[in-house]
Parts: sequence; C-alpha cells; structure tokens
Amino acid sequence: MKRKPLIIANWKMNHGVEDSIKFMAGFTKKKLPENVDVVICPPFTSLYTMGITLSEIKAVALGAQNCHAEASGAFTGEISANFLEEIECKYVLIGHSERRHIFNETDEFLQKKLIHVLHTSLIAVLCVGETESERDSGKTFDIIRKQLNVLTMEHTDELSRLVIAYEPVWAIGTGKTATPAQAQEVHHFIRKWVQEKFGLARAQELRLLYGGSAKPDNTRELMSQEDIDGLLVGGASLKADSFCDIIHCSV
Ligand code: PGA
Repeated sequence: MKRKPLIIANWKMNHGVEDSIKFMAGFTKKKLPENVDVVICPPFTSLYTMGITLSEIKAVALGAQNCHAEASGAFTGEISANFLEEIECKYVLIGHSERRHIFNETDEFLQKKLIHVLHTSLIAVLCVGETESERDSGKTFDIIRKQLNVLTMEHTDELSRLVIAYEPVWAIGTGKTATPAQAQEVHHFIRKWVQEKFGLARAQELRLLYGGSAKPDNTRELMSQEDIDGLLVGGASLKADSFCDIIHCSV
C-alpha cells in the first residue's frame, strides 16, 4: 500500500527570523510536486513569521520542534501545544533524540506530551532511535520497542494524527546514513508493532519517516523501501536548493 510521502525539515537551532525569511524568499520561488506533504519546523521565534508566509503558499505546512506536556501554567521557558495551534502550526516533533539525550527527556515525560498533543488538533511526530552502542550490542529492537511503548490503547482513536520517525542516533548529523536495508528493517519492525497493537488498518495508514543524514543523493533509495514513507531532514533542509531537491526525489 502506498502512502502519501511526507518530508519534514527540522532546522533545530538554526535560522533566526532573518535567515528564515531569506530561506523562504528562495524556497517560495521553487515549484514543488503536488503529491507530497511538506513541513518546515523552524525555531520557535521564526514560527509566527513563517506561518504568515506559509499560509500564502498552502503547499507547505508549519511544524514545531517541541512543546510541553501541559496546556498552560508555571513552566518557565516552555511552549504549549495550544499556543502552536493558535499560530496555525500543524505538526510537532516529540522526543527528538536531541531532546532525549541532551535535555534528558524520558519516555514517561514524552508519553505525557504525546497524550496532550493527541488531544489537540496537531499531528504528533514521535521520534525513536537507538544509539551506536545500543545497535552494536544488538539492542536496537528492544530500544525501539521501549520507545514505542509510550503509545497505549488510549491513543487508538487519535492514531490518524500520529507519524513515527525512525532516526538512528548514530546517523544524525554524522553524514553516516543508515543503509536503506537497515532503515527498512526497523521501519518494518515498527509497522508490525503497530499492527499487533492497533490492527492492520491503522498500521497500513501510518506514515513512517526515516531521519539521519538524509540528503538529495540518498533520498530515492531510502524512499523506495516499502515501509519508508518520508524523511525527517536536518542539515540538508537548511538550504532551499537541497531541501527542494529532496522533495522532488521523494516522489
Ligand atoms: P540530520 O538530522 O539530517 O542533520 O542528520 C536529522 C534530524 O535530527 O532530525
């Protein structure tokens, strides 16, 4: 079964407002294929401005890189999913490996975030992935299973607003992409896990993204894998040309 490709740019802590505007000036001139969903996740300070530009071009949606687990309150420095909805944000990343490893976000905390986000109108992009030492010691599937366990039966009705991104930590920002076969193996495992838990129909409609040094050169091969429906792109999404090439190569 073919799912519509989804390509998400994760700018991380790059491109302030001025650079975001410059990026959009180049990007909006490009012709994009129609049969692909495209999302850009800029830093929080660029979201509002980017939202205004993106609302004019429609073909591209706005995403945030993170949000908090509560709707409001005394959480200095945090952003609520409801604030993201208010500025027409459609997607939010949850549990990116940098949140897990640098900011110590645990599966328990990420589960709270996920529950909160799935009760809004946002689409949650749950990121999972093993470190190099976990892969070397044969623990990849145990780690992925543990990270997926934040999804419970309570989420069954909201699964149409969930995307899962497999991002092996050893491939993020290292230039070391997982081989298409390595990525497919884990994607297949994730889809099977979802099928066992939530049924075949849910598993078949779920979009699974690969992330970790995705670039124009490896997009076609990764996207040709049966269970890879899109990409979460860091470094190669910072320039309009290379991000646009990735989008074109994904269809
Ligand atoms: P990368 O980052 O494409 O620079 O490896 C991907 C990500 O962290 O989402």
